[in-house]
Amino acid sequence: MGTPHCRIAHLSDIHAGCWAHRGIDEALISSVNGLDADLVVVTGDLVQRAHRLQYRRAAALLKALKSPQLVVPGNHDLYSWIYRPVLRVSVPLGRYKHYVTRDLSPSWEGRGVSVLGLNTATPWTIERGRCTPAHAVRLGAYFKGQPPGHVKVLAVHHPLTADGFPYKREIAQNASRLLSAAARAGVEIILCGHWHWSLVHEVACSNQRIVVALAGTAASRRYRAPQMGRNAFNVVELHVGAITVHEWRYNPAVHAFAIAQTHAFTRKAPQSAA
Ligand SMILES: [Fe+2]
Repeated sequence: MGTPHCRIAHLSDIHAGCWAHRGIDEALISSVNGLDADLVVVTGDLVQRAHRLQYRRAAALLKALKSPQLVVPGNHDLYSWIYRPVLRVSVPLGRYKHYVTRDLSPSWEGRGVSVLGLNTATPWTIERGRCTPAHAVRLGAYFKGQPPGHVKVLAVHHPLTADGFPYKREIAQNASRLLSAAARAGVEIILCGHWHWSLVHEVACSNQRIVVALAGTAASRRYRAPQMGRNAFNVVELHVGAITVHEWRYNPAVHAFAIAQTHAFTRKAPQSAA
């Protein structure tokens, strides 16, 4: 398949404060830095309870990564609705903005790729995400302004479809609308997390095929059966005619991540790229 024109490391659900193994953060940093990735995408849940110390640990991990980063928040990055209900409503992502980034809709362009991040975390639900009309507007406007040949990638914390998932799980509110908007805009890849479940597959939407790559929990012990004990992240490689997604899985016996699974997809030009 040859050398990819762009390599994206996709981490999710780090959950600082709830790490599965001593030193797994260092193993994660070492593995990701060894990839020479063009971009690191982090799809939320950087912390467990939005405590300052947890944010400092998450920020230190991000700082140790050498590649450019695009980060979106998850529901755990909000103040707790039990312990900090007033702050959750008044400044829901106050600490995220202080320690990580104030940009809740980041974008990155390079190496023939355009990536947009959207914030689906909302203080108004316990853990479920929310897609809004403003998301669809932002998505359409952003991708419309990108070069026609670019691979369009969307990064969100909450999955937009439950297709392919073997258990009944809630998806973000109004997710189908955002998924349709993504298809209309010619998005070819959606990166997400939230379920602590590695799942990579293609979904059909509006006559488009979109590669949906869920990354498992990169470092936490918040496993989801039957993927118990599985810490992983994904590496997306973009070729002229193909998309490959490697799942890198942690092996506690050797304190290192290694490729455990590879998914390959034929890349077709979107029919109605914006
Ligand atoms: Fe999570």
